[in-house]
Amino acid sequence: MEQLQIAPLHELLSHFRYMITLRSQEGKYHSLILFRLSTAQDPGIKDLPTSESCGSQTDDISLSTGPSSNQRQIYVMESSCPHLGADMSHADIEECETGLVAVCPWHRYDFDLKTGKSETGLKACTYDVEVKVDLKDGVEKVYMQTPEEGTNWRLVELRPVSEEFADPPPPPKTIQHSEATVHVETGEIEPVVPPVNPPKTLMQWAVLILNTPNPSLKVERTRYAVDLFRTGKLSSIGHKSASAPRPPDVPSRDVSYTKNTVAPQKVKSRKNLAVMLHALANIEQWASLLTSRLAAISPSTPYGSMPVHASLWESATVTSQSLRSRLAIIHLVHEARGLDVNPATIERFRKAGDLETVKVMEIIHADEVTHVTSGHRWFTWICAQEGATEPVAAFRDEVRRGWRGDIKGPFNVDDREKAGLTPQFYEDLKGEMGFIEKAEQELFKSSVELSAIDIAPVNIEYDKE
Ligand code: FES
Repeated sequence: MEQLQIAPLHELLSHFRYMITLRSQEGKYHSLILFRLSTAQDPGIKDLPTSESCGSQTDDISLSTGPSSNQRQIYVMESSCPHLGADMSHADIEECETGLVAVCPWHRYDFDLKTGKSETGLKACTYDVEVKVDLKDGVEKVYMQTPEEGTNWRLVELRPVSEEFADPPPPPKTIQHSEATVHVETGEIEPVVPPVNPPKTLMQWAVLILNTPNPSLKVERTRYAVDLFRTGKLSSIGHKSASAPRPPDVPSRDVSYTKNTVAPQKVKSRKNLAVMLHALANIEQWASLLTSRLAAISPSTPYGSMPVHASLWESATVTSQSLRSRLAIIHLVHEARGLDVNPATIERFRKAGDLETVKVMEIIHADEVTHVTSGHRWFTWICAQEGATEPVAAFRDEVRRGWRGDIKGPFNVDDREKAGLTPQFYEDLKGEMGFIEKAEQELFKSSVELSAIDIAPVNIEYDKE
């Protein structure tokens, strides 16, 4: 039986659940969930969280060959429920007569953690797990059996199921009241919940958030809405209602966040760390972490005080008609470029002794690998749905159509490869956006001219997109 190392055991002690993504040599993906149940021997871990109502802390489940770990309880099963696909990372763990079960959050079917069997007759795929001591370094490591339908499986993502990083501290320039935010820069007070027509559905919250120009308030409203939704106080999605609000074509932004408000020559000579942080905050999903760091290291240059650009938004617009093209350009070009440049940026901060920013950047970099992995995963999935479209050729075609200029190196070959992007995807590749459209327009013009002089119609095949 092929085994795959997941991680040293000590790296799995910070959380009780981890999402695992595997990829085979053949390009297949598998999403799994690892449950680690607490035992008295886990250092630093006392109790299970209340949602994991595991009553069994018995000694009879030994998954380890390591001398100090004969009471570890680690299970791996597929991450989506075999009934209708619920996310099993939110399953409850319960003890029943036959053993420990994961109870699906949607329809409460339960699945044995070891065998995957359910009383309903359905069966979830489970994978054997072992903890073994590595004789080379004496460290306990966790291994799992690999799926059968593929070879040479590798781990492409191991992500704690946690809010730890998704909920960074608020930016220091914002003072929070219970339901209001004071923006120190402007002195304006804006409530998180608008006093007039407060949103009542998830859809209404989403549109309000998109229409909120201030980034701090946008984040606060997002957190507030998530909290309402998670605690059941917001039970209606509201997308089917005839009065559902329409999302704006372009989300609102304060003017300072949408165009250069600073003459470039003013910052040209300041290629310093603040400029780098500002540029990163411009493009990263973790912008709130970055703006916090920017405020900490350079209070005089808050986000918005230096040039910003909208290249991601431009690409989002160009690719708005096709998911395949969106995945190719945003995830596999823009975000893959992040993989190339992040390590050097991290080194610059390290050399400058700013270890806090190094920590933030390392979180962002690890996260970026997973973004590119997701892009690659869904891109290959779409190609398969389209009937054996070859992903490398399809990607190169999308880039030629939706990107302008060379795909530039130097490339971070290792991290790109971790995310599934082998060099065949991106080497010697150039976007021809604009040229292709022009050529098509020319073709169209000549067809019109030809039909105008009554010659047999010319059949021009346009690309589907
Ligand atoms: S989706 Fe899991 S029980 Fe229905």
